[in-house]
Amino acid sequence: MCMKIQVISIFPEMFPSVLETSMLFKAKDKGIVEFDYINLRDFGLGPRKSVDDIVYGGGDGMLLKPEPLIASIEYAKTEVPKSKIILMTPRGKRFNQATAKQFADDKQNLILVCARYEGYDERVVEFVDEQISIGDYVLTGGELPAMVVIDSVVRLLPGVLGGETSAEIESFSDGETLEYPQYTRPEDFRGKKVPKVLLSGNHAEIAKWRRQNSKKAD
Ligand code: ADE
Repeated sequence: MCMKIQVISIFPEMFPSVLETSMLFKAKDKGIVEFDYINLRDFGLGPRKSVDDIVYGGGDGMLLKPEPLIASIEYAKTEVPKSKIILMTPRGKRFNQATAKQFADDKQNLILVCARYEGYDERVVEFVDEQISIGDYVLTGGELPAMVVIDSVVRLLPGVLGGETSAEIESFSDGETLEYPQYTRPEDFRGKKVPKVLLSGNHAEIAKWRRQNSKKAD
């Protein structure tokens, strides 16, 4: 089954270079995922296709107006029904590996709404299913966060990663243990040696070393 991911943004041109490279391109090529970039500007108002406006009550900057945002969401929904609508915002729920896994397991189609400028009209939140933040810092728009979410979800879809357990070794059952250090050839690089146990061929000892050297997330 193909997962459809639509992004709504005033800078849709930011996406292809990231989403159509490497693993994500392979996922698309194999028909596991499909991307659609929707230009918010196409839903702008008036001859200038305006998407933003001043802040009621005063304040610097401009806010994204509700009409173009909601019209673009409604358009996306007619193209792909039964999608989960997610607004990228620093005020959203913190995104983590468990949420990425949940989205990948659900395989529900996603509409990722990228806000810009100083923000968006608050009434927009009533039209979305979830609000997601990728961390406690403020970016200039939701585009990079949307790419982070897409990358972390798509690589977990069945058939995307080469090694069958590559996605599993990164995090153990608690979902918080990060990958252990790994080495490739040469055995000795400028005097820095690969830990002996990894060359031993003793699988039990190697597994123990890897467990002991897996970093816990802070
Ligand atoms: N837009 C701006 N900053 C963001 C963040 N940290 N997470 C999600 N969307 C954002």
